[in-house]
Amino acid sequence: MLKNKNILVTGCSRGLGLEIVKELLLEGANVYGVSRTLTPEFNSFLEQYRERVFFKKFDLNATDEIEIKIFKEWLNNKISIHGFVNNAAVAYDDIITNMNLDLLESMFKVNVFSPLIAVKSVLRNMIFNRTKGSVVHVSSISVHTGYKGLSMYASSKGALEAFSKNTAREWGEKQIRSNCLVAGFMETEMSGTLSNEQKARIFNRTSLKVPTTLNSVAKTVCFLLSDGAESITGQNIHVDSGTI
Ligand SMILES: NC(=O)c1ccc[n+]([C@@H]2O[C@H](COP(=O)([O-])OP(=O)(O)OC[C@H]3O[C@@H](n4cnc5c(N)ncnc54)[C@H](OP(=O)(O)O)[C@@H]3O)[C@@H](O)[C@H]2O)c1
Repeated sequence: MLKNKNILVTGCSRGLGLEIVKELLLEGANVYGVSRTLTPEFNSFLEQYRERVFFKKFDLNATDEIEIKIFKEWLNNKISIHGFVNNAAVAYDDIITNMNLDLLESMFKVNVFSPLIAVKSVLRNMIFNRTKGSVVHVSSISVHTGYKGLSMYASSKGALEAFSKNTAREWGEKQIRSNCLVAGFMETEMSGTLSNEQKARIFNRTSLKVPTTLNSVAKTVCFLLSDGAESITGQNIHVDSGTI
């Protein structure tokens, strides 16, 4: 259970992030959500769980403002952070020979630099409050199984997997854990541009031959945040419909 635990979730407005927020609230956690949009779905959580849900409208592209706007002005050390779910991301899909540096840099700002900067402040908060905290990065099966057009996106997620393993090593003595949830293909806006043929090809590479469900991923994220996962750190946990 995550009762009364303070959990920061980026990309809370829709897709997987919204599902993670839903599961966290069912588990009794206090949720601090960040995204650029306040959607009707997240707003309904704000209304339903007035004392347990908080929202910060913020563009994670603004990497130089993260420490001040999120961690000094909003989630400061007086609020003890127990968990951080790095879920927000964008996908810049294209073949390598079409690579555009502006688009690549923008994706790396959201997918890599912003979570690394956030982890800096999250760790400082956990150390200050002597919290046995847990960090969960949402990674992608594309890191482990190549897909045409996903090399740039996959490399941003691969960076997170390396960062997570090293975070686990560096801060394990303080009982702070870091893991990656390696998600398979899920039906969200991010994957909405794929044709049925592309989707069929992706499903065919899974054992279950179906999309990975948001609920299965969200429940595993909650487990990794919980004390039940107290001995799990530095790992990549696959929830990917059995992609082999
Ligand atoms: N869908 C898949 O098949 C799949 C597979 C493997 C892994 N993943 C990973 O799963 C996670 C969730 O993806 P999803 O499928 O739920 O994607 P999604 O539906 O596109 O949602 C992305 C979330 O990230 C937020 N976000 C994007 N850019 C942002 C920015 N600059 N500043 C703040 N927030 C930002 C969005 O909120 P706003 O637009 O309101 O800012 C939204 O809440 C991502 O890490 C993704 O890489 C997805």
